[in-house]
Amino acid sequence: MLTNNPFAELALSLPATAMQYFVILMILLVIISTGLDMLHKKNVVYFFRNAKKAKKSAKTELSPGKKTAVILKTVAHDIATTSELGMGKRRLAHVLGMYGTVIFWITSVLLIFNYTDGSVAPSYLTSSWHAGAIMTCIGGYWFWFFLRVDVSAEAHPWYRIITADLFVLALLACATFGLAWSYTQSNNMIGLSYLFLILYIVSNLVLFGGVYWSKFAHMFYKPGAAIQKNLAEADGSRDNLPPPADAPEQFGLGIKREQPKHY
Ligand code: HEM
Repeated sequence: MLTNNPFAELALSLPATAMQYFVILMILLVIISTGLDMLHKKNVVYFFRNAKKAKKSAKTELSPGKKTAVILKTVAHDIATTSELGMGKRRLAHVLGMYGTVIFWITSVLLIFNYTDGSVAPSYLTSSWHAGAIMTCIGGYWFWFFLRVDVSAEAHPWYRIITADLFVLALLACATFGLAWSYTQSNNMIGLSYLFLILYIVSNLVLFGGVYWSKFAHMFYKPGAAIQKNLAEADGSRDNLPPPADAPEQFGLGIKREQPKHY
């Protein structure tokens, strides 16, 4: 199963161009929905206005070299390792899901555009597609069943679903149905494989068609915010926030009543 290219098998009954147009449609949906989301929330307008305002209170002017260094450090640390989630399980689950999804998407595009014309896909590519989906499932289900704030801190049951769950659930559905489709297809379970293919297509439509209503766009907003925060830290403007207090951290005994959790 791990070396199966499910798209090549599908290309025997469906033109490869149909799959390619589907991928292009999904990319367009992300671009258009994120643009609409920005217009609606006006978050980017706020972001730039705030950055301009903060620049006025900058203590030092950053040279282009220093700016580049801050941005590169933010990409390598804050973004690539989701450092804002601290050192806990939450970060590990997110990193697994994030890299899993990126690998799953990139390999899907490579398989659909390069290996649906009858040529055999290298096994590292097909196994990466499956590995990406499995990593997404491990990180995502871990988050869904145990780590969500309303589950771990507010003791709501794991099956309570709200609109904010659209992103994680659609992402999990894509990875799960993609794996189930490949498994049933490689085992010649024809009826089931078509069922999972339909579910895989529907979950992709929900994931990419739901960008406007889901948390999908955080993968663009979060890196932008992290870069701005670190630049503001480096030039001393600190986003117009006061510096940390020059006093010992004494919070009283109450702080020890409950173990802090990483959110
Ligand atoms: C392909 C890229 C990414 C994927 C697939 C992804 C996936 C996810 C998922 C599924 C969630 C849970 C959503 C929910 O609360 O229901 C999440 C939350 C979160 N993501 Fe991402 N993410 C990506 C990129 C990023 C980046 C680049 C950052 C930061 C630099 C980031 C920071 C966060 C944070 C802080 C949360 C809240 C986590 C929590 O409540 O435990 N994500 N992400």
